[in-house]
Amino acid sequence: MSTLSLISIGPGDLDYMLPAAMGALRRADVIIGYQIYLDQLRKLIAPHQELISSQLGQEVQRATHAIDLASQGKNVAMVSSGDIGIYAMASPIFDVLREREWSGSEPHVEVFPGVSAIQATAAQIGAPLGHDFCTISLSDLLTPWPVIQKRVKAAAWGDFVIGFYNPRSKKRDWQLGWAMDVLRDFRPGETPVVIARNVTRPDEDISVVTLADFDPTVVDMFTLVLVGNSQSYVLADKVATPRGYTEKGQPRVTDGASTQGEHDILSYPVSLTQLTGKMATVIGGGPVATRKVRGLLSVGANVMVVSPDLTDTLQSLLDEGHITWLSRKYETQDIDGATIVFAATNERDVNREIGEVCNRHNILCSVADAPKEGSFHSMAVHRGEDVVLAVGTQGETPGKAKQVRNQLRWLLDQ
Ligand SMILES: C[S@@+](CC[C@H](N)C(=O)[O-])C[C@H]1O[C@@H](n2cnc3c(N)ncnc32)[C@H](O)[C@@H]1O
Repeated sequence: MSTLSLISIGPGDLDYMLPAAMGALRRADVIIGYQIYLDQLRKLIAPHQELISSQLGQEVQRATHAIDLASQGKNVAMVSSGDIGIYAMASPIFDVLREREWSGSEPHVEVFPGVSAIQATAAQIGAPLGHDFCTISLSDLLTPWPVIQKRVKAAAWGDFVIGFYNPRSKKRDWQLGWAMDVLRDFRPGETPVVIARNVTRPDEDISVVTLADFDPTVVDMFTLVLVGNSQSYVLADKVATPRGYTEKGQPRVTDGASTQGEHDILSYPVSLTQLTGKMATVIGGGPVATRKVRGLLSVGANVMVVSPDLTDTLQSLLDEGHITWLSRKYETQDIDGATIVFAATNERDVNREIGEVCNRHNILCSVADAPKEGSFHSMAVHRGEDVVLAVGTQGETPGKAKQVRNQLRWLLDQ
């Protein structure tokens, strides 16, 4: 009975090809594969063996040809780099066999495993696959991009070490940058990223950068990009991932965490939808005040800013007639007539006083540097197409609220 052998040749150097695969190659009458793989195998090929070189991207034709030759009684070897079962020829072979309602015996099919690019990379750089990992191909030739996006987000949520295959090509140049942006919202900026090009080949080039500094433009289709999990670390010129988790490596919290039990007053989140014609007074003219002003303008409020100075953005809003400005420090009467007040100066005592005065006058007030002194506080917001996401931490840890908002927004943008 003829045999169709699906043979993994490893990542490049033939020292990484398994003996069982070499034995199967020797038994073949016909060897089919890309010319570069046939060149790589030259010293293992005997003169009597017929070579069939195929073109990139003709997987189904190649699979059909190999099955036809085996069905005619020849021992056929189909070769693929790395492991033939990973983003390679084993699947198209089985797809064609399924179409032909293959019984399991004619031809006899054997698969010979090999060292995939992710394993070869891992071995060259240390022990980055010490915990759960996954591989994601960023090629959207056969997989719709939304499916790939979903997987990147899921791997980010799961804190998997990720090996990106087919990471970037001339035509597909932004997807890897997008994937790294997702991961930056879930893992520390110092997470190691291994950029491994032509591993075990003569021009092998492997470097390690941080997730924060990663530049997708240095990556091409001969490269595997391996991103550590939140625990992965660099040691000398190597990268490793521990078998377990410690406190230290938990995903970032940018300021001190708090628990609900610590709060005697719980908040009741509401959403301001309309302040058209209502007076909103923002006391302070810095970046925090600027964010509040933007939000208030978006719900139609008449915004007055009280501050000796303005940010450039506030100055532009003033020049364009969107806000009014009292160019001086806060005075008690500034809150008269206001429906809502934001105390956002850089003086603690002034902010506290604004909170107290507003509370006495039943005016809604947010105190930027001490949320409990006011009657409300803002949350970290993401506006999706038809969903608004607001994340709050009782005003205690705005950094954590932003982190969770950043992570959740990837779920909305499906
Ligand atoms: C179509 S996939 C084939 C994967 C292969 N079957 C394997 O198991 O490694 C091609 C991608 O594998 C990765 N790759 C394969 N060999 C590599 C090597 N020697 N060095 C770095 N990346 C490699 C690259 O990401 C490349 O774009």
